Amino acid sequence: MKFFDIKTQIYFGENSLDRLSELPYKKALVISDPYVVKSGMVHHVTSRLQNANIEWEIFDNVIPDPPIEKISEGVSAVLKCKADIIIAIGGGSAIDSAKAIREVAEKADATYKHPALIAIPTTSGTGSEVTCFSVISDPENHTKIPLADDCLLPDEAILDAELVKTVPPAVTADTGMDVFTHALESYVSTNNNEFSAALAEKAIEITGSFLLRSYLDNNDTHARQKMHIASCLAGLAFNTASLGINHSMAHQLGAAFHIPHGRANAMLLPHIIEYNSDIDKYSRLKTDYPKHVRKYATVARTLGLQNFNIVTTVRALSNWCQFMMKEMDMPLSVSEANVCTQEEYFAKIPAMAEAALKDACTKTNPKVPTLKDIEMLYTQLW
Ligand SMILES: NC(=O)c1ccc[n+]([C@@H]2O[C@H](COP(=O)([O-])OP(=O)(O)OC[C@H]3O[C@@H](n4cnc5c(N)ncnc54)[C@H](O)[C@@H]3O)[C@@H](O)[C@H]2O)c1
Ligand SMILES: [Fe+2]
Repeated sequence: MKFFDIKTQIYFGENSLDRLSELPYKKALVISDPYVVKSGMVHHVTSRLQNANIEWEIFDNVIPDPPIEKISEGVSAVLKCKADIIIAIGGGSAIDSAKAIREVAEKADATYKHPALIAIPTTSGTGSEVTCFSVISDPENHTKIPLADDCLLPDEAILDAELVKTVPPAVTADTGMDVFTHALESYVSTNNNEFSAALAEKAIEITGSFLLRSYLDNNDTHARQKMHIASCLAGLAFNTASLGINHSMAHQLGAAFHIPHGRANAMLLPHIIEYNSDIDKYSRLKTDYPKHVRKYATVARTLGLQNFNIVTTVRALSNWCQFMMKEMDMPLSVSEANVCTQEEYFAKIPAMAEAALKDACTKTNPKVPTLKDIEMLYTQLW
């Protein structure tokens, strides 16, 4: 038996933030990163809470790739303020932090009643506003821990592209490639279904048309609105179908070398497409291909990359990923990312490969990888 539902209510488009003025709560904890507060963006939330006569406090101690320690600080803040609603405004790091903080707070104090959670993304990337995942870092062990539970799902999400206007081009590039990776991995996941496929196809189509436009022109409101929706669609897709080793391996690169999540995913994409499909520049056409390889070809066609046969079409898809990265000035390899020496990188490969193999996303990869395969992929990535 299969099951599909969307628990999170989604408010989107112009004036969608006005939903906050209608809320029936008494006390809010606003969770964000320091940028959201310093830039004044948080006023989009607090002015509306004022309209709704809701008191608020702000916890702005979120940092990228949120570590366990910051989650504990957030738990103390929410228990102290006894919020009946948590409002997360920020990128995936702020939203993931809020999800984890809400769950841990409830477990830490049995008298604290489950607060509502509203997620307001300010990047178009993670789709965290509609997923049951929260990725927390364990800096001591250099790993990322993806938590997965339906109780992490936000109750409401608000998608207002006004909030993404200020995103710098490099973050637009990273987060946009994260959207594409979510859509692609969910599309070929062993757990995919017709609902997730429909959501992923639309996210891929929008990303193909609008990511580069968003990157090239911050003021292209139409392109930004489209990418904000694509991010949420891709989140809904992988929330039901899950992901694959592209994410398992990216999680380790984030934890070990602080490579931004979307950038790590983008660098891996061409390697993972070729690995999963057993297609590279030496490949000759075969008579039959597994379903996921034909799906890669469908994705290529959705992007307008129709080619002579399945080998050239799948290769066109992996070339398209590199083309997008070059156009958006992204590094194509770990050496180009300039985050560590070659020795430091190769020393970490065995531990990263082991952690990637155990990562929850590996279970639904269309090809079952061995530890050696993952080590080989990390080696290629240098
Ligand atoms: N829960 C999920 O389903 C899921 C999925 C994918 C990734 N993730 C996690 O999400 C995190 C990455 O999130 P992200 O890519 O959104 O980045 P982020 O939240 O870490 O933010 C990146 C940077 O962009 C800045 N920023 C955010 N919004 C801005 C704006 N409107 N204007 C200017 N600057 C802005 C932030 O201050 C930060 O410096 C990682 O920890 C990753 O593991 C979670
Ligand atoms: Fe992601």
